[in-house]
Amino acid sequence: IFELGPVEAFISQNKEYLTFFFSSFSEKLLVLTVATEETDGFLRFMRSADYFNYTVKVLGMGEVWKGGDVGRSIGGGQKVRLLKNAMEALADQEDLVVLSVDSYDLIFAGGPEEILRKFQQANHKVLFAAEGLVWPDKQLADKYPLVRTGKRYLNSGGIIGYAPYINRIVSQWNLHDNDDDQLFYTKIYLDPLQRESLNMTLDHKCQIFQNLNGAVDEVLLKFGTDRVRVRNTAYDSLPVVVHGNGNTKMYLNYLANYVPNAWNYEHGCSHCDDDVVDFSQLKVGEYPNVLVGVFIEQPTPFLPEFFQRLLTLDYPKDKLKLFVHNNEVYHEKHIQRFWEENKNVLNSFKVVGPEENLSQGEARNMAMDLCRQDATCDYYFSIDSDVMLTNRQTLKLLIEQNRKIIGPLVTRHGKLWSNFWGALSLDGYYARSEDYVDIVQRKRVGVWNIPYMAHVYLVKGSALRNELKERNYFVLEKLDPDMALCRNARDMGVFMYITNRHEFGRLISTANYNISHYNNDLWQIFENPVDWKEKYIHSNYTRIFTDNYLEQPCPDVFWFAVFSEKACDELVEEMEHYGSWSGGKHQDKRIAGGYETVPTDDIHMKQIGFEKEWLHFIREFISPVTLKVFSGYYTKGYALMNFVVKYTPERQAYLRPHHDSSTFTINIALNNKGIDFQGGGCRFHRYNCSIESPRKGWSFMHPGRLTHLHEGLPTTGGTRYIAVSFIDP
Ligand SMILES: *[C@@H]1O[C@H](CO)[C@@H](O)[C@H](O)[C@H]1NC(C)=O
Ligand SMILES: *[C@@H]1O[C@H](CO)[C@@H](O)[C@H](O)[C@H]1NC(C)=O
Ligand SMILES: *[C@@H]1O[C@H](CO)[C@@H](O)[C@H](O)[C@H]1NC(C)=O
Ligand SMILES: *[C@@H]1O[C@H](CO)[C@@H](O)[C@H](O)[C@H]1NC(C)=O
Ligand SMILES: *[C@@H]1O[C@H](CO)[C@@H](O)[C@H](O)[C@H]1NC(C)=O
Ligand SMILES: *[C@@H]1O[C@H](CO)[C@@H](O)[C@H](O)[C@H]1NC(C)=O
Repeated sequence: IFELGPVEAFISQNKEYLTFFFSSFSEKLLVLTVATEETDGFLRFMRSADYFNYTVKVLGMGEVWKGGDVGRSIGGGQKVRLLKNAMEALADQEDLVVLSVDSYDLIFAGGPEEILRKFQQANHKVLFAAEGLVWPDKQLADKYPLVRTGKRYLNSGGIIGYAPYINRIVSQWNLHDNDDDQLFYTKIYLDPLQRESLNMTLDHKCQIFQNLNGAVDEVLLKFGTDRVRVRNTAYDSLPVVVHGNGNTKMYLNYLANYVPNAWNYEHGCSHCDDDVVDFSQLKVGEYPNVLVGVFIEQPTPFLPEFFQRLLTLDYPKDKLKLFVHNNEVYHEKHIQRFWEENKNVLNSFKVVGPEENLSQGEARNMAMDLCRQDATCDYYFSIDSDVMLTNRQTLKLLIEQNRKIIGPLVTRHGKLWSNFWGALSLDGYYARSEDYVDIVQRKRVGVWNIPYMAHVYLVKGSALRNELKERNYFVLEKLDPDMALCRNARDMGVFMYITNRHEFGRLISTANYNISHYNNDLWQIFENPVDWKEKYIHSNYTRIFTDNYLEQPCPDVFWFAVFSEKACDELVEEMEHYGSWSGGKHQDKRIAGGYETVPTDDIHMKQIGFEKEWLHFIREFISPVTLKVFSGYYTKGYALMNFVVKYTPERQAYLRPHHDSSTFTINIALNNKGIDFQGGGCRFHRYNCSIESPRKGWSFMHPGRLTHLHEGLPTTGGTRYIAVSFIDP
């Protein structure tokens, strides 16, 4: 009476097949791994395992590792011993599939169902990972079965098989902890009888296991909407277990910045907010103590500004101790000034000067040691004098991220030059990673595990007293100090991160810094234009263009803010330091013809070697104003006469009415009426119009010939300085 529906009919006709099908899914997968320490690599492995809901049993945690240095030589027997012990209890579980993998340098890219399915498809009882390089005994190469395509040789970093079979393999172990595990498995595999009876094969085409050693060129990242995988392009497979064996640890770190779900295009960074330090839960008195190490290893432009930025970090100053290594006599005056102003602000302030004759490595070791040996030092923040932190939250943001070592991304303005490397070349130097440019340009934003960084970074005090407890990390072979530190951290398995989640600041250039002038930063307009502008251009200058922030006190005389206080002061200081004022005589050897009809008491920019920089200033900052107020006139920004004039009752107090040999003239007041001098100003005859209260840092701009006959009004007391250029003569 009952009719079978289509589904029931299908089931009854295919009973046998379906039983097999479902039973294969009822099999359980147990992951076994050996780890004696919770290294950063281990924690990353566990994160990827947890993400896919693997059942993982960790063997040997807390044991002393006696398995040798597997990274560089043979060893690893301890892993087999631990696996042998663990398998004894599992020997009779016929449905249990055991996956034995390394963990410090390995991640999962797929889940347990996928592994089991692929294991079924392989149709063997035991499957080993394969690689293209034979290790550790090259003489065994010929004994391997030939393969038409795929990797020929066994790698013991990944083994999957039914529990009883795995047990039969590892129960044969009777060697020492520092004997080689891979050699042990290789010998069993190469024995034809055992290979047959234990039904063993290798995962030749990387269906499950991807060993990266010798295969870096075969793999690519494959971005999905939720997950990122590794694709093996040689076999068109999507391996589930990715192993950074041999010297591919850094490449695995790169892959693991994405795989399985660390970062993708849709969601960005998914782990960036894990385990963060929550400052909102801390009272200010509970903020971590930070030792700040400052390194001035070469003459560095804008050093007072550097210190100022350090001081304006949003962090309680009594939680900061400052260590400064200064290698330059030139900078002693800057440090002295900073020290006098701030010695009581910071928790402590220590300076090691050039007289100590410390190498850079020694100085960095000394600073790091101060934190290492002080149990109350929670963080060590190292910053070089060429780092301009523009983000006041930098220190907090780095601490929040809660990593052993983390640096903020800083880049040279407008360049791809930054403070990290995305990859290493084989000899340990710079190599560009596929994602380097995107990270530098913040097209990919996150916290990135990278092989090298420098200039500015934060290290946990606890890491200095544990993983990094050895001293003298900055001195190693012929490496420069930062390379030495990073090499040591890599060797200790400590991950280094760079964050570009925020804008933090920039790296300035210390190249071509000529310290033979009095105020050397004035000359930095080419090398460090952003910092030059910030220091020397009036903070309201850009408002000329955004809110028409300029005045017209007389017809066609425009008046606008251009120089900062510092620009004015330093230019005057520079001229007074040079000191050879012309005396305002008609005879003037500095100009063509040797005769000046309307002479001033002045010094030419050329005389202090500032002509090129000054003309660049005109092109960058004056030309745009010209275009705004005399629309349609495009200045070449060319000027032969650029000079600073000094008016004082004792020498020259005024200038008689005259025209300028220019299309237009700029005239920048360099000091303050009423404070530095009395009187002064400028009068334009045709309009019967005078400007008697020049403003420091503000410039006039007026036509030079024909309409704007003008005179310099008498300075009645003090000294008045102006900077003048006759533009487009
Ligand atoms: C892991 O298990 C959790 C809870 O059962 C589930 O929400 C999640 O989707 C699982 N993850 C995967 C990758 O299957
Ligand atoms: C290995 O075992 C599978 C079943 O799991 C069997 O089908 C296959 O024939 C065996 N291969 C060898 C070489 O014994
Ligand atoms: C400074 O150290 C260098 C190298 O360590 C050495 O060659 C030099 O003589 C030292 N100079 C002084 C003044 O001690
Ligand atoms: C530094 O400036 C001085 C003075 O202008 C000049 O004589 C010297 O050649 C410059 N040095 C370098 C390396 O450019
Ligand atoms: C910039 O303009 C604002 C508003 O006019 C003024 O308050 C401020 O003092 C100006 N800044 C400087 C450096 O003069
Ligand atoms: C010029 O202006 C002043 C007032 O600013 C005035 O007293 C004087 O008469 C003017 N001279 C001429 C020639 O217009």
